[in-house]
This record gives sequence, C-alpha cells and structure tokens, in this order.
Amino acid sequence: MTPAAYVHLDLQAVRHNLAQVKRYTPDNKIMAVIKANAYGHGMLRIAAALEAADGFAVARVDEGVRLRAAGIRQPITVLQGFVCAEELQLLIQNQLDTVIHTAQQIAILQQQNQQPAGSLSVWLKMDTGMNRLGFKGNDFKAVYQQLLNCPLVKQPVNLITHFANADDLLDDKTRRQIELFNTAIEGFPGQRSIANSAGVIGWPNVISDWVRPGLMLYGCSPFAGKTGSDFGLQPVMSLRSRLIAVKDVAAGESVGYSGLWKCPQPTRLGVISIGYGDGYHRHTRSGAPVLVNNRRAPLVGRVSMDMITVDLNSQPEARPGDSVTLWGDQLPVEEIARHADTIPYTLLCGITQRVQIVEQSGN
Ligand SMILES: Cc1ncc(COP(=O)(O)O)c(C=O)c1O
Repeated sequence: MTPAAYVHLDLQAVRHNLAQVKRYTPDNKIMAVIKANAYGHGMLRIAAALEAADGFAVARVDEGVRLRAAGIRQPITVLQGFVCAEELQLLIQNQLDTVIHTAQQIAILQQQNQQPAGSLSVWLKMDTGMNRLGFKGNDFKAVYQQLLNCPLVKQPVNLITHFANADDLLDDKTRRQIELFNTAIEGFPGQRSIANSAGVIGWPNVISDWVRPGLMLYGCSPFAGKTGSDFGLQPVMSLRSRLIAVKDVAAGESVGYSGLWKCPQPTRLGVISIGYGDGYHRHTRSGAPVLVNNRRAPLVGRVSMDMITVDLNSQPEARPGDSVTLWGDQLPVEEIARHADTIPYTLLCGITQRVQIVEQSGN
C-alpha cells in the first residue's frame, strides 16, 4: 500500500547534481550545503549519498555534531560558528571547522588556554555587502592579524564571503562583492570560498578554492523563471499523494474554506490527501498545476490542513486511489513556488514530519 502522502527521494539524482556542480567548477572543491535537514531531504541521508563531496556545510553546531556522530568524516564547516565557550568546545571535540564573523568570537577564542595549539580550523568571514555576518574593511584586516596570533587557530586562516544577489545576473553588486573580497585577501595564504549555487552557475569566473552549493544539489534553479533542468540538474524530491474522493459539483457552488472558488461550470472535483499540514503551501493559488495520473489538473479553492481540491473535468476517468504528484519529477518545484508566491527553498524545507519518506538509492 502506498502511504497517503509521501516524499520520494531520488538519491541518484543528488549524486548526479554533485557531478554537475563539478562540471561547472572543475577546479574547485565542493562544500555541499546540507543545513536545515539538507533543505528538507534528510541531512544524514544526503551526507551519506554525497560521499564524493569534499566537505559539508551546516548552519549550526548541533547539525555538525550529528553528522560526526553518524560517522561522516569529511571536513564540516559550521557557517554560523559558535556563540559561547561551550559551543567552541563542541567544535573542537568534533573537529568541526568554524566561521569567524563577529568580535565576540575572538574574545572567546583568546580566553581558551587549555586547548592544544592549532586545534580549530577557521574561515574568517568578510562582509562584502550582505550586511549580515562578517567583518568589513579595516576590521577584517585587524581580526585576521588577531587570528594569526591565536595559538588555538590552525594556520593558515581560510577566507569566506557570501553573495547577496548572485541570482540577479544584471546586478553589478556581485561583481563589486568579488572585487572587494579579492582585493582584501590579496596575498593571504588561506583557502578562499565565495560561491553559492547562483555563483557556481552564473559567475563562473570567480576565483576560489571551495564552492558552497546548496539548492542546485537538490535539483533546483537558483534563478527565477528557470528550472533545474535548464542547468542539467535533476529533482531529488517528489512530493506525492493520492486522490481520496471524486465528485460532481454543480455550477455556481463554492469549494472549500471561505468559498473563494466557485465552479464556473458543472465540475468533476478531485479531493487529494495533502495540505499545509504536510508542507503544501497554504498560499498556493487556484490554477497551480497538480499531476493526477501524470496529467495536469488545476488546483481549485483554498489549501486546507489535510486536503486540496482539483478540477478533474479533463480527466473524468480519475478514481480514488489514483496517484498524484504535487511537485518533483515532471512538475518542477520552482513552478509550484511561483504559484505560491514563494521560492523553492521554503517548499523543500517545509515538508512536515507526518510525510513518509520513500528512498530510491539507484546505483
Ligand atoms: C553562507 C552560505 N553559503 C552557501 C549557501 C548555499 O546557498 P544556495 O542554496 O543558494 O546554493 C548558503 C545558503 O543559504 C549560505 O548561507
């Protein structure tokens, strides 16, 4: 029996996407970004599938600790670094690399006298215009010097920045960010890391040692109006369910909460077991495509917690139990995100716990 609502994960696709990153940036090492439960795909599962990755990046210390506990051996970078001495301790114990992005972290590092010398690998973050984490200008240079003199820190200090707008190929900001970074770190011996997925695909001339793709590993386009397949990527996640009822509703009747959608004609209506309680976005508009038996049918009416409704006038033969795809294979999540006024990241990350996972490992 197929589960009521489930996510099908194609692990061969994630390996294909990693190979595709390599094709875009053959000279870079790849730090696969698997934070936020690998964008909803399962962090440990994806880390195991991506054994060919040179390293991993997560947002938080506890994510790195879980990866180590599961036996992941590659370098793991914690993008938000530590906020207190206890977290620093966990980083060192678990051989996790940290980003240094704020002065308080330097103060904490300087108070550590008992740790063996060189036991912490660091990425010093430059704020080149995102104005979120990192140091600017002279502060960046001063902190770099402090890290050179900090016995705990393994040398050389690595250097990192993050694009704010690389998905807009017409915005000059990315070029300015690259220039700022390259000028500031000229002559520094550490490894460099700049590009996210949009940087990997859209800004191929960035000089760096490590790229940090997230979204593209999961088969999605970082650029609006495109889908992963435009860049040779394959979707990893397909969200699936089934029809649970089919009925005829008279013209003029309304469907669902608030009666926002009214049947413009006699309507064969399909009810599908999926809703915002599973991670299907509540703001997905009527007209969004849903695949019923691999054919498109438009969503009609409000998304509720456990159900959605579709217009099946084009498929009068559809029956309860028939298969439904909400996004993934044959129906790009990017397209559904547009119908929900959001981005693919939120849809992938938003799958809830009750949704069952069905894995396909491939070869
Ligand atoms: C610092 C950093 N690097 C890389 C990434 C990966 O970005 P993307 O998923 O757009 O490739 C993220 C994700 O938000 C990030 O915060």
